[in-house]
Amino acid sequence: MDTIISELKTGNIPEHVAIIMDGNGRWAQKQGLDRSAGHVRGVDTVRQITEIASQLGVKYLTLYAFSTENWNRPQQEVDTLMNLIATAIERETPDLIRNNVRLALIGDTSRMPQFAIECLDRCIADTSRSTGLTLCLAISYSSRWELTDTMRRIAVKVKEGTLEPEQITDRTIKENLVTSFMPDPDLLIRTGGDLRVSNFLLWQIAYSEIYVTDTFWPVFSKLDFCNAVAHFQKRERRFGLTGEQVRKS
Ligand code: FPP
Repeated sequence: MDTIISELKTGNIPEHVAIIMDGNGRWAQKQGLDRSAGHVRGVDTVRQITEIASQLGVKYLTLYAFSTENWNRPQQEVDTLMNLIATAIERETPDLIRNNVRLALIGDTSRMPQFAIECLDRCIADTSRSTGLTLCLAISYSSRWELTDTMRRIAVKVKEGTLEPEQITDRTIKENLVTSFMPDPDLLIRTGGDLRVSNFLLWQIAYSEIYVTDTFWPVFSKLDFCNAVAHFQKRERRFGLTGEQVRKS
């Protein structure tokens, strides 16, 4: 693993990696287990992937842990997920601090149970001085929720007269998104094989490289993450320009 890490580090490491962690339920069902066993195992993967991202020098890792739509799952599964996230965060805080990892949260916290918000807020405060990887959890998050909320906040400024409609640019929108503290993702990984973006960071992934693997999240390994980064390093990012223009610049 050390050799792979050193080799990857000689190339371009994505500054921001976002992940749609999918396949927990399918993995569990394949083992004849309850779906929640997949989520439990998925928490171990979160730990492994946070570690490798940090070792590679990734600056931001955004994980889609719970979508707005996930509130519609059976109540027992929702409770399991909220409990798992809160307990894991509480348990891992000392290690996050030791590894210089800062926790951040994006999503509609008004829908989250109080105990989970408290755990997350405590970890955010306790890790706020870390200067290494920012681990950003998207919980109760969806892009349409975020964009609606953003539009509403911009509309209030227009109504108050502090912003003219003509002054609104893509920068205004970026600055009002809940992700305004991060650069856009360079690499979007989806596990579990489905070819869709599931209402995740729709504005922000405009120019992200997309990597989909059939591997289910509970068994997605450090090596799998390195493979995704290796694929990213082979891609030519053109941002709408021609290949020739990019190679000249
Ligand atoms: C998708 O699998 C996964 C989720 C809805 C939850 C992912 C959450 C975790 C792994 C826990 C995160 C913990 C921390 C500490 C951030 P699925 O259930 O949709 O799987 P399926 O597509 O096979 O049904």
